[in-house]
Amino acid sequence: MGSASRVAGIDAMAFHGTHCYLEMADLATARGVDPDKYIHGLGQRQMAVATPCEDTVTMATVAAHRALDRFDIDPGEIGTLIVGTETGVDHSKPVAVYVHDMLGLAPNCRTFETKHACYGAMAGLTSAMDWISAGRARGRKALIIASDIARYGLNTPGEPTQGAGAVAMVVSERPRLLELDPTSFGDYTRQVMDFWRPLYSKYAFADGHYSIDCYLDAFSGAWRDACENSGTWEPLRLDNIDACFYHVPFTKMARKAHHRHCETEWGISVAKENEAKMTEINASYERQVAPWLELNSIVGNIYTGSLFLCLMDYLRKAHPAGGQRLSMFSYGSGCGAAFGTGVVVANAARYADHIDPATHLAQRRRLDIDRYEQLITASETADHNEAPYPDPADWDLGQGLYYVGTRDHIRQYTGSAADTP
Ligand SMILES: CC(C)(COP(=O)(O)OP(=O)(O)OC[C@H]1O[C@@H](n2cnc3c(N)ncnc32)[C@H](O)[C@@H]1OP(=O)(O)O)[C@@H](O)C(=O)NCCC(=O)NCCS
Repeated sequence: MGSASRVAGIDAMAFHGTHCYLEMADLATARGVDPDKYIHGLGQRQMAVATPCEDTVTMATVAAHRALDRFDIDPGEIGTLIVGTETGVDHSKPVAVYVHDMLGLAPNCRTFETKHACYGAMAGLTSAMDWISAGRARGRKALIIASDIARYGLNTPGEPTQGAGAVAMVVSERPRLLELDPTSFGDYTRQVMDFWRPLYSKYAFADGHYSIDCYLDAFSGAWRDACENSGTWEPLRLDNIDACFYHVPFTKMARKAHHRHCETEWGISVAKENEAKMTEINASYERQVAPWLELNSIVGNIYTGSLFLCLMDYLRKAHPAGGQRLSMFSYGSGCGAAFGTGVVVANAARYADHIDPATHLAQRRRLDIDRYEQLITASETADHNEAPYPDPADWDLGQGLYYVGTRDHIRQYTGSAADTP
């Protein structure tokens, strides 16, 4: 496959989210909105909510610990650690270096953070692929983590498209899950003001409807570049792809993206009135996209990780025999995007239970709207220097790795990833 000297791919995956969630129907009722708008219009059933004691570092570390533990990977095997995030905890110090310390990785492990809105983890994944292909890994593996808390604020249009969580992926030369095909990747970049978060703001600013247009244009651009790179578009044709994964800020976005995917491949635009083509698009969506949106619909928007949640949903449920081609489209506002494909490794189905976060998600606690609003408000100041220290007990959190305040301008953590359920 491809012309690269070494194959690279995803060898291990794990997810860690928050301890609390909100039902979208409860949020809709509180905001005086028809619940069908959030549940069917946006396609979201539940939304993960981070307490002030859960941050990008704790979620990333627990997800990574889980991936290494479940796939029996020694931390000493990791030679590159990249955390993709748009909700880092410091303007200078990367989340990745906290994670490096908490996981006990080797001092010669190259460690950094990538930021380009929701595209940061895909940038990390393709960098890891290049690192291995170039022969720089010397048998070691790369750990790529997508970790974010999506915050738009109370009573904003973006409020129902929030969420929080981390996906950790180990990339290696002998992947057990998905071989990435470097010849099938294409890129797209354009300066647009569709979503941004100035240094002084905890909350994102978004021109929501414009961001959807930018996303769709970026899809077409990245897909066309992928076709040019591969020299042929045959392997990229939808008929040759078993499942399509997109960046999913809310699951309805995947339907819009797939519509654009079909249009771009066919070279035509398809209006709702074109019944024959709409039937074709809808059938393809139901087969290749919709079945793999379940985790996204109950976790919400996790920015950098949302694309990879679809892949996890597929790997835990599809029981693929191996050889299936999967497509991935990552979009980061601002904007940067990539489209690429990978091929499922034989026996990947054996790891479905290792990947499945169902037990972890079933342990989440449902918030009522008052508690949700208290929690969002408390999170606003939780990382101010010497502010009242957030106490895990105040949020009914059990054992685990938690952020417990900033003292002398230094973030403090307690507990360990191994103890986090
Ligand atoms: C996504 C976002 C733009 C939605 O904005 P909004 O103005 O509140 O919502 P809309 O009026 O567009 O309604 C959303 C959908 O629900 C549908 N809807 C509205 N009321 C409905 C109801 N009662 N029942 C069923 N569906 C309903 C709308 O038709 C629309 O679907 P469509 O896009 O397929 O036409 C907003 O949440 C946002 O800004 N989010 C953050 C940015 C973002 O996620 N960008 C994505 C690209 S990165």
